Amino acid sequence: MAIDPALLADLEARRAEARAAGGLDKLAARKAKGLHGARERLEMLFEPGTFQEFGMHAQHACTRFGMEKKRLPSDGVVCGTGYINGRPVAAYSQDFTIAGGSLGKVHAKKICDLMEYAHNMGMPVVGINDSGGARIQEGVESLAGYAAIFYKNVYLSGVVPQVTLIAGPCAGGAAYSPALTDFIIMSKKNSNMFICGPEVIKAATGESASLEQFASAAAHASVSGNIHLVAEDDVHGLQLASRLLSFLPQNNLSDPPHNLDREIELTDDPGMNELVPATQKEGFDVKTVIARLVDDADFFEIMPDFAKSIVVGFARIGGVVVGIIANQPAFKAGVLDIDSSDKGARFIRTCNIYNIPLVNLVDVPGFMPGLAQERGGIIRHGAKMLFAYAAATVPKITLIMRKAYGGAYIAMCPVELGADAVFAWPTAEIAVMGAEGAVKVLFKKEIDSAPDPKAKEKELIESYRKEFSNPYQAASCNMVTDVITPAESRKTLAIALRSALSKRDVRPPKKHGNIPL
Ligand code: HXC
Repeated sequence: MAIDPALLADLEARRAEARAAGGLDKLAARKAKGLHGARERLEMLFEPGTFQEFGMHAQHACTRFGMEKKRLPSDGVVCGTGYINGRPVAAYSQDFTIAGGSLGKVHAKKICDLMEYAHNMGMPVVGINDSGGARIQEGVESLAGYAAIFYKNVYLSGVVPQVTLIAGPCAGGAAYSPALTDFIIMSKKNSNMFICGPEVIKAATGESASLEQFASAAAHASVSGNIHLVAEDDVHGLQLASRLLSFLPQNNLSDPPHNLDREIELTDDPGMNELVPATQKEGFDVKTVIARLVDDADFFEIMPDFAKSIVVGFARIGGVVVGIIANQPAFKAGVLDIDSSDKGARFIRTCNIYNIPLVNLVDVPGFMPGLAQERGGIIRHGAKMLFAYAAATVPKITLIMRKAYGGAYIAMCPVELGADAVFAWPTAEIAVMGAEGAVKVLFKKEIDSAPDPKAKEKELIESYRKEFSNPYQAASCNMVTDVITPAESRKTLAIALRSALSKRDVRPPKKHGNIPL
């Protein structure tokens, strides 16, 4: 006895209805605008044929405002699992063609159930957001749905990587789910993200503002710092999500995807010596240094357009996945300010969650002086760097390239803040302040009374630099593990990282530390 063909036909019809989403005409209209359907996006995210759908036959149960007559296939969100880079990942994708991708009770439950599955299986979650927000007809039930998703976002935080792609509107409180995940990627096309739109802003404050000014990918990437990566469109966004996951472990109990089969290159890189400018006053682009330190010059920068005086991102060194935190002398001399402290601290903590060793490249003149910085809370924000480094239990390797002054030196992870090894180039200047400032404080009278004060000051600066702020001063009291040439840096870091992979750092039990927020 074979199965009743009518049952097979019925299943096929139901599948076809779900796949047609809000209508083939709507899908075609979006396609004409270069936008992809929700299911299509998941099929592009996952390796071919690996997508397994959860909840295709879900339906809303709302009976208000004529909703009882409406069918919303899959309740406007496609959920499931698939493989990315050969590893399982859970993902959901909101379908704008179905009631604007709005979130009702069942839609929310599907997302929460998927997150619970990902938590139990220890796999990352990718969320593709494209939604008009809370489904108006479902009222408080949709608000409850958001609350349940936020709860799950927090429950999963620090357990499995959570990545959000904003590929459409993301308005009001809905923006808080992405904000609770580890990384937000935002498409330049068709997307915006805001709490209050232009009309509400106008009514509340009288200010006129366009979405482009405060809600676009460009605004979030460079001004608000709310997002981590900008994508050209949804397809590019999916590629970025996949690349991001290629540096992350499946969960907090596993190692990131190191490539330990790779041989460590034990040769020097003489070109590195050429990159360092002859004088301390000249800036240089730290990204050129990073490109030479990491395997295959493959550096995946995170938040490249925000707080550019610090550069953060993922790479591999000698096959070991690392998070790089580097001062950028080419932008505001690499100073630490409110935004760069927030950016650096958040990245350090992300790496620590996911067992990713930290490599800290130091060339920092200090914390940013200024009224706006003081009034804006540079004490609180700068303290985040100190807290994040001191609390991180992953291997921490610091390379002091040039300036390392004052509190900012400490904020870039010296031995006393928990660095496992600190290397310094002969050009390193480790001091309470720069030689110029120190000489002015210490030798004011001597300079003023000299026959040629300028020449005297210059002479004192040179001798101060030579005697007191060179790396051998710090090395003499074991604050520097070794002084190395720039050319030796790549192999030195690679060897140190390999041997630090077995690091154990057990802290006293507590709920959590109290990072200044
Ligand atoms: C129900 C919605 C909807 C919503 C859109 N639709 N948003 N249905 N609830 N929130 C429906 C529309 O009625 C329409 O249905 C279809 O989706 C497409 O919408 P359009 O308006 O035609 O599309 P477009 O012109 O592209 O405009 C998209 C939009 C607009 C900008 C998102 O729809 C909009 O402003 N929607 C309301 C957004 C909003 O205020 N949401 C609440 C945010 S507050 P038909 O049947 O005509 O195709 C929130 C609170 C969360 O979310 C709280 C968490 C704590």
